[in-house]
Amino acid sequence: MLSSQSLSITNESKQDAEYNKICEEYKNMMKTLPKGNGWRVQHLYNYNGFWLDSETLKTNMILNTYFKTQPTDIFLASFMKTGTTWLKALMFSIINRHRYAFSDHYLHHHGPQSTFPFIDSEVYPVNDFTHISAPRLFATHYARDILPLCMTSCKFVYICRDPKDVLISKWIFMSKLRSKDLTPLLLGEAFELFCQGVSEYGPYWQHVLSYWRASLESPDKILFMKYEDIKEQPKVELKKLAAFLGNPFTLEEVEKGVVEEIVRLCSFENLSKLEVNKKGIERFGKLVEVEKRDFFRKGEIGDWRNYLSKEMKDRIDAIFDDKLKGSGLVLTSRD
Ligand code: A3P
Repeated sequence: MLSSQSLSITNESKQDAEYNKICEEYKNMMKTLPKGNGWRVQHLYNYNGFWLDSETLKTNMILNTYFKTQPTDIFLASFMKTGTTWLKALMFSIINRHRYAFSDHYLHHHGPQSTFPFIDSEVYPVNDFTHISAPRLFATHYARDILPLCMTSCKFVYICRDPKDVLISKWIFMSKLRSKDLTPLLLGEAFELFCQGVSEYGPYWQHVLSYWRASLESPDKILFMKYEDIKEQPKVELKKLAAFLGNPFTLEEVEKGVVEEIVRLCSFENLSKLEVNKKGIERFGKLVEVEKRDFFRKGEIGDWRNYLSKEMKDRIDAIFDDKLKGSGLVLTSRD
């Protein structure tokens, strides 16, 4: 009979053999995938219809095998720069509103990025996250179509935003992270790539549609939200969000102003001026480091007006109108 020590060694070597197999598959697959220009790194790879850099592609394969969900898990899914930081703060504050006083809240001392794990930067061996109590919250930028299968039965909150604001926000953000070995990415180039759908996790329209369609099929499982709606009617949207998270606001909480407190706590104006969000670095995986302050830029609707010509605006609107035609979803502002 095997001792428990030799059993665990056998298990470990089995796991390693499995991991080596994934690495081999990954290496072989990379040789065959269509390549496009990256915004942060030199190349993106088209993996089942979506453009990923080599690390997030590998993580996707690793998560597929090793990431284990629980039925009560809730995911925040988003395309980059659509309001992930904001939603992280909101979801965390809603779920934990009985744990922290608004006068001395977790978010006064920790950035929204630290509230719950972003799974796309996991590396082998993947965390099992069993230390987090239910409902566990996770964030991801992966499109619905390339999620590890075990995730698709969980609840999702999806946030989207006008593509023109996403383009500008992403171009500015990625320019800061862009490899110094590459020439700067000009706005005109980023615009062309965005219009072709070639951008990390994109095409953006395909990303949005993947969650939009799933939300129509299973509205109880996927809450589809828009950045602009939360800006314009935060209390209405927060009540929807809290109910979806299984934590509806009670009448007493509404009367006591708890909804307003959360709106204020998580507002751009409040979070962006906190010391904890102005200094320091957030690490994603082994390679990516982001200055915390770069998660807070302007936080406005329509800043694209300061960057895009009328022709550029019309072209993006036309592309998105066409791609979303018949879906019942409109993403572009009319004015
Ligand atoms: P801008 O670059 O247009 O200002 P993500 O969190 O998905 O990376 O998105 C970042 C965008 O959301 C940035 O947009 C950022 O300024 C904005 N943002 C960050 N925190 C916010 C908040 N609390 N409320 C509204 N917008 C916020």
